[in-house]
Amino acid sequence: MSLAIPSKPANKRSEASITPPSVQHELERSLLADKAYTSPKYLYDAVGSVLFDAICEIPEYYPTRTEAGIFQQYMSEIAHAIGPHSTLIDLGAGNCRKAARLFPLLHPNQYVPIDISIKYLEDAVQRLQQRFPYIEMTALGLDFSQPWTLPNEICSDKRLFFYPGSSIGNFEPSQAKTFLHHLRSECHSDGGLLIGIDLIKDHTTLVHAYDDALGVTAAFNLNLLRHINQILGADFNVHQWRHHALFNTTHSRIEMHLEARTAHTVTWDNAHRHFLAGEKIHTENSYKYSLESFLSLLESAGFGQAQYWTDSENWFAVVYAKAL
Ligand SMILES: C[S@@+](CC[C@H](N)C(=O)[O-])C[C@H]1O[C@@H](n2cnc3c(N)ncnc32)[C@H](O)[C@@H]1O
Repeated sequence: MSLAIPSKPANKRSEASITPPSVQHELERSLLADKAYTSPKYLYDAVGSVLFDAICEIPEYYPTRTEAGIFQQYMSEIAHAIGPHSTLIDLGAGNCRKAARLFPLLHPNQYVPIDISIKYLEDAVQRLQQRFPYIEMTALGLDFSQPWTLPNEICSDKRLFFYPGSSIGNFEPSQAKTFLHHLRSECHSDGGLLIGIDLIKDHTTLVHAYDDALGVTAAFNLNLLRHINQILGADFNVHQWRHHALFNTTHSRIEMHLEARTAHTVTWDNAHRHFLAGEKIHTENSYKYSLESFLSLLESAGFGQAQYWTDSENWFAVVYAKAL
């Protein structure tokens, strides 16, 4: 197993997170915007990754178990469509469990998990390499919301991008198209994309998935403030914020926000931001697609010959599209 991480300057605020000045500037800009927002990538530090794993276990969060059910039911069909011996590139791999379930049927020649939460990824891949010593594994710690290309050590034959969990929904649709187009450009015509898509459904089910009774998603969202404190040396007080999730019908997306309980000022370095009571920081979008709209997005990004599999309620879809 090898691990390639982007170079990172020493930073007294955080040993564990990627904090080059460009990251601090991006975060600062978004916090100082008229309507404060942050990229969903900041939800993932070591604690955020663990909390996301917990979210996947709660009853309200149907995407993980529904997607797993589709894979279980149709795995041999999916494996037949893809064929063996690909270079399996796992985008936002997290604990790598979803890809590991594919290994026995896909027999990848190389496994390339990519994640911004580097320490978490490193630990997961070390464990996985012990279970599958015969698969070459190259973990990449990178932020794929910034321009990126795969390094030369990644085999260029039969690249299969694996993007489960409907994480594509975190991108605005136009950004999603650019991202998919980039994936297409990173594989030859023997490559493809295996992706999980959360489909439009009743709004109560959607909102509960992002606002569960135990408050696990609330903790995941609030942990962002601790992460920002580490990156910027800011003084966000988690107690002064509450989690808020809603479905925006105009944009067909779940939105997560953090809402200030009281008026207060947050400071870091030479900057500060005053928040009014009830003012929000927009922390995540999760776009929900119809199958038709997603298939046409894939086509417009240069993929062809899509095959798809859904659950009995049409809540979620797994799509395999070959590069044209
Ligand atoms: C919703 S979780 C999905 C985890 C796992 N693939 C699954 O389907 O359960 C999103 C994953 O993508 C990673 N991630 C989020 N934004 C990223 C970015 N900009 N670049 C690289 N990884 C990112 C997170 O650290 C996290 O592991």
